[in-house]
Amino acid sequence: MSNHSLDRSRQLIEQYLSVRQLTTDICQSLEKEDLSVQPIADVSPPKWHLAHTTWFFEELLLVPYLQGFKKFNQQYSLLFNSYYKSAGDHWLQQDRGCLSRPTVNEILDYRGYIDNLVIQLLQQNNPEPEIQSILEIGLNHEQQHQELLYMDIKYILATNPTYPAYSNLPLAKSHGMKQSWKSFAEGLYHVGHEGEAFAYDNESPRHKHYTYPFKISDETVTNGEFLSFIDDKGYKSPNNWLSQGWDWVNSNSICKPLYWKQINGEWFEYTLHGLQPLDLDAPVVHVSYFEADAFATWKGARLPTEYEFEIYLQQTELKPGEKQATSQVAIYHPNNSSQKVGQVWCWTKSHYSGYPGYQTFKGVLEEYNGKFMCNQFVLKGGCVNTPKDHYRHTYRNFYQPHQRWMFSGIRLCKDH
Ligand SMILES: [Fe+2]
Repeated sequence: MSNHSLDRSRQLIEQYLSVRQLTTDICQSLEKEDLSVQPIADVSPPKWHLAHTTWFFEELLLVPYLQGFKKFNQQYSLLFNSYYKSAGDHWLQQDRGCLSRPTVNEILDYRGYIDNLVIQLLQQNNPEPEIQSILEIGLNHEQQHQELLYMDIKYILATNPTYPAYSNLPLAKSHGMKQSWKSFAEGLYHVGHEGEAFAYDNESPRHKHYTYPFKISDETVTNGEFLSFIDDKGYKSPNNWLSQGWDWVNSNSICKPLYWKQINGEWFEYTLHGLQPLDLDAPVVHVSYFEADAFATWKGARLPTEYEFEIYLQQTELKPGEKQATSQVAIYHPNNSSQKVGQVWCWTKSHYSGYPGYQTFKGVLEEYNGKFMCNQFVLKGGCVNTPKDHYRHTYRNFYQPHQRWMFSGIRLCKDH
């Protein structure tokens, strides 16, 4: 191997190990009992994430590219394939919490086994472009699951009425900011990903989009503002709500964001730092599309389109984690409504679908994004728990309109 390909191999191995390590680190402060719980279908047991991210490298990288590869366990594909129909049968998502076996220790052994073989593959091959490309997708996939782990761990711990904290680090209180609006002129703008750096298939191709004049809030909606909506009977007034939203509110008795609790007349919010008094200046988080839209209607505003949002984001270089990194204290909960990115994923009013000329990844990965382009909305901007080097302004997160266990918030927009 030439020096150049040795360096490349070393670099890939280092990247691989650092991403894989972070996943196990996220679970480090949990107890073993926390790792197998599945309170609702959307929330997977943390140990399933540990195994599924490993299965991804096994199935997509080692099976096709490592000669003589033997699976750790033939049955794991059934258990830990998530939804890739072309990779064979898979266990139902809502039944992941029924699996007491394999144990956490067996899953950690599985991770170790696959890690050693991936390293062997990267050392052996002057890695072919195809191997490098699948490795890159596998690492980005694992980073997506790191954020999912924070979401799922939060839901699991919040389901417990003793409200155990994930982190004992104190959460800094946020400071009030005056709302201001940023105006953008009518015109043709470019949105979407271009260039050699990694991006998911759904971010391409970069293309032109004609936008009418708009102004967008420079701050995300705060808990205090959302409390005014509640106090003004926002959840009780049908004229604020989309028809499906009104049905959702009533059939599920929704009257507050997911993790808000009212105790003896005082508002609290469950965070990964434990149950905290509601910080009125912090961004509102864990709201559904229905709630975001109803709040915007009540405010005489609207949600931005994903195009407007991306045009707005193009004005900043900031990435999630950069602000937090300077404080040297891990913050797992949004506390700055004036930060443009990396606090809460903001709902847009854009339906999630392919850009003009969209093409899916090839092979098994054809199923990665394209098949979810139905009945979901795009969210932009990243959140406190989005891995720092996983974020791009072109990133298109997507969820169904009733979902709210992700770190979802609101940025308002208006026509000029
Ligand atoms: Fe996955």
